[in-house]
Amino acid sequence: MMASKPGIKELTRQALRFVLLLTLLFALTGCGRDESNGPIVIKFSHVTAPATPKGQAADRFQALVNERLEGRVRVKIYPSGQLMNDDDSIDALAFGEIQMIAVSLSKFDRLTHRFQVFDLPFLFPDLRAVERFQGSPEGQQLLLAMSDRGLLGLTFWHNGMKQFSAPLPLRTPDAAKDLKFRIMESDVLQEQILQIGGNPQKMAFGEVYQALQTGAVDAQENTWSNIYSAKFYEVQPFLTETNHGYFGYLVTVNSSFWTALPDELRVEIEAILDEVTVWANEQSASINIAAKEKIIASGSSEIVSLSDAELEQWRSATRPVWNRFEKNIGADMIEAAQRAPQ
Ligand code: SIN
Repeated sequence: MMASKPGIKELTRQALRFVLLLTLLFALTGCGRDESNGPIVIKFSHVTAPATPKGQAADRFQALVNERLEGRVRVKIYPSGQLMNDDDSIDALAFGEIQMIAVSLSKFDRLTHRFQVFDLPFLFPDLRAVERFQGSPEGQQLLLAMSDRGLLGLTFWHNGMKQFSAPLPLRTPDAAKDLKFRIMESDVLQEQILQIGGNPQKMAFGEVYQALQTGAVDAQENTWSNIYSAKFYEVQPFLTETNHGYFGYLVTVNSSFWTALPDELRVEIEAILDEVTVWANEQSASINIAAKEKIIASGSSEIVSLSDAELEQWRSATRPVWNRFEKNIGADMIEAAQRAPQ
């Protein structure tokens, strides 16, 4: 019998396999290099602008490593999604194409449910409460949540607390009914929007401005600094100050890359990261306050402040999300997060 010609599907599969092999080859040869061949390069990709909490933290990390470990390790930051979006950066990290990322905790949802605790609405009253939880044994355990995927969390960085932006003032949850909300790729955030009667749409950060501008989505949730730096306020007439959820990042490395580093370098990089984390988490609040002030000064959107009674309506409308995800997250983890504020 004559062998049949490969069809388009088979050719595509072969091409994909070839690309995968090339990627692996690049990964094996491109990182964790012996110091005698020049400095070890840490390519660090992220999606926000340099003047954001994450942008500032990444730049400081780069400056300190390049100064203190000169000739041995060199960090190269790729901000503003110039290299790739968050989803692709998680895959690129796993393949060893880049060595470090700081993706929003919400966006690891496709790999682990352990970070869902951070997305529960109104769980943390403020960033200090989040910090106490992240520093607790339960919080520190979460750094290892993706070790079965070859990814290791090194530290948490804050952005800030989230607010809603919309074409109308969202004083109470019923105002959100039937609005299309852009959300990050998280099932908890999806349920949160469903609970207020909205229509959630998962979407990459780089696509949000245009989606808001063209009306592909009506509304979104984010921190002041992201709303300002990504110019969402230009196309959203109302920003409602809810502080309804935490927005933070996990600084993540490829486990094999990390463990292959010479011990003394790993220890020095960890010490620099600890120093940067303290500095960055202190900065994040003031960067968000400054962003809010710049939005007010622009006159482009109105900031809506809520009364305690209105906030209580948001709290009770979104509370069912906790029950829905308690099994995934673990009641003990939710309790640990609730204990942290005391
Ligand atoms: C980020 O801050 O890294 C991205 C924000 C978003 O996706 O909304």
